[in-house]
Amino acid sequence: MANKSLSNIIVLISGSGSNLQSIIDNADDIGVNIQSVISNKADAFGLQRAKNAGISTKVIEHMHFASRKDFDHALIRYINTLNPEIVVLAGFMRILSADFIAAFSTNTSKILNIHPALLPEYKGLNTHQRAIDAGDSEAGASVHFVTNELDSGEVILQKSVVIDPSDNADTLAKKVLKQEHILYPEAIKKVLQK
Ligand code: GAR
Repeated sequence: MANKSLSNIIVLISGSGSNLQSIIDNADDIGVNIQSVISNKADAFGLQRAKNAGISTKVIEHMHFASRKDFDHALIRYINTLNPEIVVLAGFMRILSADFIAAFSTNTSKILNIHPALLPEYKGLNTHQRAIDAGDSEAGASVHFVTNELDSGEVILQKSVVIDPSDNADTLAKKVLKQEHILYPEAIKKVLQK
């Protein structure tokens, strides 16, 4: 049972869940109770990370739904049973509908996402390759509020890294991910302290 002073959050993932791991590892410092980890993929490694930490997991696979709206409403129904303060997207690779965003962007709840670029640069996919191709000297990650426009909500915190001439998309992704693991706990804490 959660300590009353902790804020309830849920985390949505699609894959490895290394950002989830960092939130799990820093949960006490952030002041959160992770009520549930939801994945839209049954084989997401992040589910194992949650189980290892004793956190309840839920798989809601988008491919079993006729439409994005139906999938999102299944998510909404499940999340409503938990009533979290923050919905954390951590490598959740689905675009959410306006219904979902309206359901959890209220006076009492917010949706956060981590994006592997220095927003407003490089919304969408392949962010690291695009930064390298553009000849940028730095890259990074952003945590932002989720709105109806992809990767466009207010930025909460960012961290940058230097792009070395020897970097490729993989090496850059690793460098950025390391910063993401510091950034996401800080950003959640900041939002909760407001
Ligand atoms: C992270 O780099 C995150 O920024 C990115 O997916 C990776 C997930 O890693 N998210 C997006 O690209 C969202 N558009 P993880 O599963 O190990 O946390």
